[in-house]
Amino acid sequence: MKRRVFSGARPTGRQHLGNYLGAIQNYVNLQDEYDCIYCIVDIHALTSLEDTGGLQKNIHEMMLDWLAAGLDPQKSILFVQSHVPEVMQLHTLLSMVTPLGWLLRVPTFKEKAKLQPQNINYGLVGYPVLMTADIVLYKAEVVPVGEDQLPHLELAREIARRFNNLFGNTFPEPEAKLTSFPLILGLDGKEKMSKQLGNDIELALSPQETTERVMTAVTDPARRYRTDPGHPEICNIYRLQGYINPLELDSIGERCRSADIGCVDCKMLLAQKINATLEPLRERRAVLATKPQYITDVLLDGAQRARVIAAETLSEVKQKMGLI
Ligand code: TRP
Repeated sequence: MKRRVFSGARPTGRQHLGNYLGAIQNYVNLQDEYDCIYCIVDIHALTSLEDTGGLQKNIHEMMLDWLAAGLDPQKSILFVQSHVPEVMQLHTLLSMVTPLGWLLRVPTFKEKAKLQPQNINYGLVGYPVLMTADIVLYKAEVVPVGEDQLPHLELAREIARRFNNLFGNTFPEPEAKLTSFPLILGLDGKEKMSKQLGNDIELALSPQETTERVMTAVTDPARRYRTDPGHPEICNIYRLQGYINPLELDSIGERCRSADIGCVDCKMLLAQKINATLEPLRERRAVLATKPQYITDVLLDGAQRARVIAAETLSEVKQKMGLI
C-alpha cells in the first residue's frame, strides 16, 4: 500500500510563484508515489478573520491554480477543510490531550499574538491542534511543508504520541517532508514571498504583467551603474534564476560579475523564463476558469471521499476515549 501524504494550505486566492515553487510543484510530484490528500484549510483562515466575505472566491481561485498546475482529482483527494466537519470533532477531542503549555510555546502563536494583539482568540491558540486533527484524521504519515511549519509538525507528533500512550496505538507520528525550495523570498529580497506583503508574482498574471513585476525587484544594492560588477550571491533575482532557470545559472552569474549583463537584462531573462515555464499552466487555467461547476464538483467529490476515511478514524477515536 502507498504511504499517505496530507498537506493543507490556507485559502489565499490566486497563488504566486512562491506557492508554486515551495509547495504546489512538490504536491504534484508526490501524487504517483503516495496516496495524497490536499486540503484548503478554510477554518484555519478564520483565526485571523480578515475578509471572510472573500473566502469562497479565494477557494475557487486557489483550486484553479492547483488544478492548472497538475493536481489531479483522479489521483489525489482535493477538498475544503470545512466540508469534512469530522475534523472539528477530532480537534475538540485532541484538545483534551494537549497541555496548554505546549501551545503557548509555539513560535507562530507568539508571532500571531504580536501581529493581531486586538484579536488573540482561542482558535489561534488551538491552531496547531486543528492542524494535527487535519493530519491524523487521515492517519497520514508524510506531510510536505515549508520550514515555517516545522514547529507545528513537531507538536502534531507530540499530540499523536500522547494520544497513543493514553488510549492505545492509533495514529502514526506524522513526519515533515521539507520541499526542495522551502523558502522563496519575495521581490523585496527580504521577506518570504507573500500576497499580504505585496512582494509576490501571481501565476495567473499575463506575460507582460509578469515582466513588469520582475522589473520592480530589488537586486544587488551595491550595483549602481550598469558598468559596476554585480554580486550574484547576494542577489535575490539570481536566486530566483536558480529555481526557474537552473541550466543558465552559472553563465548568468559570470556575466553579472563581469558586468556583461545589467540587472535589467538579467530580469528580462528571468521574466522570459517564468513566462515560458508557466505558459502551459496559464493555458489550462484559462480553460478551467470557464467551467466553475467543474471546480465545485471536484471539491464535492473530494469531500465525499475524505469523509469516508474521516468517519472511520473518528469512530475509532470515540471508542478508544470511551464515548461509544
Ligand atoms: N498551517 C499551515 C500553513 O499555514 C496550513 C495547514 C493546516 C497544514 N493544516 C495543515 C499544513 C495540515 C500541513 C498539514 O501553511
